[in-house]
Amino acid sequence: MDQFSLECLRHGIPIDPLPEYDGKRNVNIVHAPNRLHNLNNYHDKQLAIDNALRYFPCHLHSLLSVEFRNELDQYGHIYMYRFIPKFPIRAYPIDLYPAKCQEAAAIMLMIMNNLDNDVAQFPQELVCYGGNGQVFSNWAQFWLTMKFLSSLECNQTMVLSSGHPLGVFPSLSSSARLLISNGNMVANYSSKELYNRYFALGVTMYGQMTAGSFCYIGPQGIVHGTTITILNAARNQLGTDQLSGKVFVSSGLGGMSGAQPKAGVIAGCISVIAEVSLEALMKRKRQGWLMEVENDLNNLIKRIEKARNDNEIVSIGYHGNVVDLWEKFADYHRKTGKLLIELGSDQTSCHCPFTGGYYPAGIGYEQAKQMLENDSEEFRKLCQKSLVRQVAAINYLAEQGMYFWDYGNAFLLEAYRAGADLNPTETSYGIKFKYPSYVQDIMGDVFSLGFGPFRWICTSGDAKDLQISDRIALDIMTKLSMDPDLDKESKRHYQDNIKWIENADKHQLVVGSQARILYSNHDGRVAIARAFNQAIRDGKITRPIVISRDHHDVSGADSPYRETSNIYDGSAYTADMAILTAMGNATRGATWIALHNGGGVGFGEAQNCGFGLVLDGRSETEEKAANILFWDVTNGVARRSWSGNSNALKTIEKIQTKNTNIQVAKNHLH
Ligand SMILES: NC(=O)c1ccc[n+]([C@@H]2O[C@H](COP(=O)([O-])OP(=O)(O)OC[C@H]3O[C@@H](n4cnc5c(N)ncnc54)[C@H](O)[C@@H]3O)[C@@H](O)[C@H]2O)c1
Repeated sequence: MDQFSLECLRHGIPIDPLPEYDGKRNVNIVHAPNRLHNLNNYHDKQLAIDNALRYFPCHLHSLLSVEFRNELDQYGHIYMYRFIPKFPIRAYPIDLYPAKCQEAAAIMLMIMNNLDNDVAQFPQELVCYGGNGQVFSNWAQFWLTMKFLSSLECNQTMVLSSGHPLGVFPSLSSSARLLISNGNMVANYSSKELYNRYFALGVTMYGQMTAGSFCYIGPQGIVHGTTITILNAARNQLGTDQLSGKVFVSSGLGGMSGAQPKAGVIAGCISVIAEVSLEALMKRKRQGWLMEVENDLNNLIKRIEKARNDNEIVSIGYHGNVVDLWEKFADYHRKTGKLLIELGSDQTSCHCPFTGGYYPAGIGYEQAKQMLENDSEEFRKLCQKSLVRQVAAINYLAEQGMYFWDYGNAFLLEAYRAGADLNPTETSYGIKFKYPSYVQDIMGDVFSLGFGPFRWICTSGDAKDLQISDRIALDIMTKLSMDPDLDKESKRHYQDNIKWIENADKHQLVVGSQARILYSNHDGRVAIARAFNQAIRDGKITRPIVISRDHHDVSGADSPYRETSNIYDGSAYTADMAILTAMGNATRGATWIALHNGGGVGFGEAQNCGFGLVLDGRSETEEKAANILFWDVTNGVARRSWSGNSNALKTIEKIQTKNTNIQVAKNHLH
C-alpha cells in the first residue's frame, strides 16, 4: 500500500463517482447476525432511512433510500455496504496517513486496526468483537471521521457521538484531539430493548469497550487476561500454580473467547472449549490457537482421560453445544465417580443472549440461526431452557469439587433471569449468586492493588520496535519487582508479568497492529511510559507509541457483576468512577478519551471508559503520561479503598506515603 492509496481517506465519503455495488454481501466474509428491532411501521423505518440519508447530498437520496430500506429489512440495520472501502483495511504505519498532526494519524491507525479483516469479528458490519461491539454504526461515519482526522490541526478537538462524527472544534494544543461518547443514554432509557430500536435508527451505538474507543489489539489482550485469571484461579482455589494434568472447561471460540485455548496452554493446563460455530472453531485451529478438534463426546472423554494421565498441556475444541458438554461431564461423574474438571467457566456472548450471543441446545447451529430470524420468541425460550440445563450440570459438578466462575459475560445474570438454580441472595449491597464473578474471587483484588491491563502500540508497524519496547518493559518490571518495599502479592504479579513479557514474542501474539499488553500497577505503567518516551526521543524506537489500556481495569469500569462486583458498600450500582476517570484523563491531556455504556456485560449493565495517549518523545508528553497514568490507576484504588477493600486500603496508604501531592479521604471504619 503506497501513500497514494490512503490519500482517499482525506476526501470523505466517496460519492463522485459512487462506488459500484450490486446489492449483495460478500459471501466469503462472516457476517453479523441480523439485528432485531421494533421499527415496524412506515414512519419508524423512514426515520431510520432519513437519518442515514443525512450523510449524502439530495441527488443521491432516491437511489440510496432503496438500498438502505433493503438493508434495514434484510439485516436489521443500515450499514451502507456500498461504501465499504475497496482497499484492504489494516494498521498501516503512521507515516502513510494523510494527516496534519501526528496524534490524528495515530488515531487513524487505531481505527484501521479495529476494522482489519483479520482483527474484526464482522468487519463489514463494523463489529470489532463481542458480537456487537461497533467501531462505527455505518460506513459513512468511517469515511467522514477519516476526513475530519485528515484535516485536524494540533489545536482542534474532534467529537464522536455514538459513531457519528459531530465535527471538529477549536481547543488548545494541550487538549485532547478526540472525545468519544458511545451508547450513553438518559438513565431511564438505557435498556437492551430500547437499544435495539435506537441502534436501528442510527442514533446510538454499542461500542463494547475497546471497539468504539479504537484501542482493541486483537485477541492478545484477552489471552493475557485469561492466562492471569486461570493462574490465579488455580492459586486461590486449588492452592497451586502448577496446572499440569488439570482441566479447564469453558465455551466460545469467538472474538475474545477464542483466546481461552491459547491462554490455557500458556498457563499449562488441559483446556476444553465448546463452540457451536464450525467457522469460529476452525479459524482458531488455523491460527494455531487451538490444538485439537473433537466432535464426539465419548471420544472427547477418552482424550481428556489420556491427557490427564500423561500430564499433557493441550487445548481441545469441542464442536457442539456447551450444554451437551457439561451434561456429559455430569453423567460421566454419576456413572464413574470421576471428576474430570478442576476449573470451569463460560464465555458465550451472554451480554446479548437472545440475539445470537448464546445458542440453544437441542437444535443444530444452522437451524437455530433460522429460528432466530423467523421466530425470535421461540429462540429466546429455548435459550432460557438451555441456560437452566447448563447451570444444573455445572451445579452438580461444583458440588463434586469443581471451581466455577462467571467470566464477566453476564452468564450468571441471564441464567438467573431464565430461572436457573443459582441460589440468589439479596444482600444489602445487591444480588449474590452461588458462584462468584471472576472479579470477586480472582481479579478484583488484583485491581485493588492497582494492577491492570496497560497496553501499547508501536505506530511504525515495525516488529523490531515492539521487541525493543518489550525489552524496556521487561527491564523496568524486573527492577520494580526487586523493590524491598513491595508487598508479597504485588511482587507475585510483577513476576507473572515478567514471565509473560519474556515469552510474549515467542508466543507470536500479534494479530493486527504491533501491540503488547501486560498487567502493572501505577509505578510500572508510569516508569514504562517514561522510558518509551525517552527511547522515542533518542531514536531507539523509530516512531511514536500509543499507550492505552482495556476499559476492564482498576478504574475503567463500573459494572456490578464484573469490575466492581467486589465493591460491598452498596455503591456497585453507581457509575461515578468511570465518568470521573474519563473526566480526569481529559483534564490531563490524553490524546483521546472514550466514555461508554455497556461493555462486556451488556447495554445498560455497565459504564466504562478508556483513553489513548500518543508518546512522541517530547518532554510535555512525558509529563502528561506520568499524570494520566497516576490518576487513572490511583483514583480507582481510592474508590476501592473507600468501599473497604483491604488490598486497596493498604495500597492507597502506601501511595500517599510515597507521593505527598495526593490526599485521599480516610475510611475510618477500617
Ligand atoms: N471476562 C473478560 O475479560 C471478557 C473479555 C472479553 C469478553 N468478555 C465477554 O465474553 C463474551 C464472549 O466474547 P466474544 O468476543 O468471544 O464473543 P463472540 O460472540 O465472538 O464469541 C462467543 C462464541 O460463543 C459461541 N456460542 C454461543 N453459544 C454457544 C453454546 N451454547 N455452546 C457453544 N458455543 C456457543 C458462539 O458461536 C461464539 O463463537 C462476551 O459476553 C464478552 O462481553 C469477557
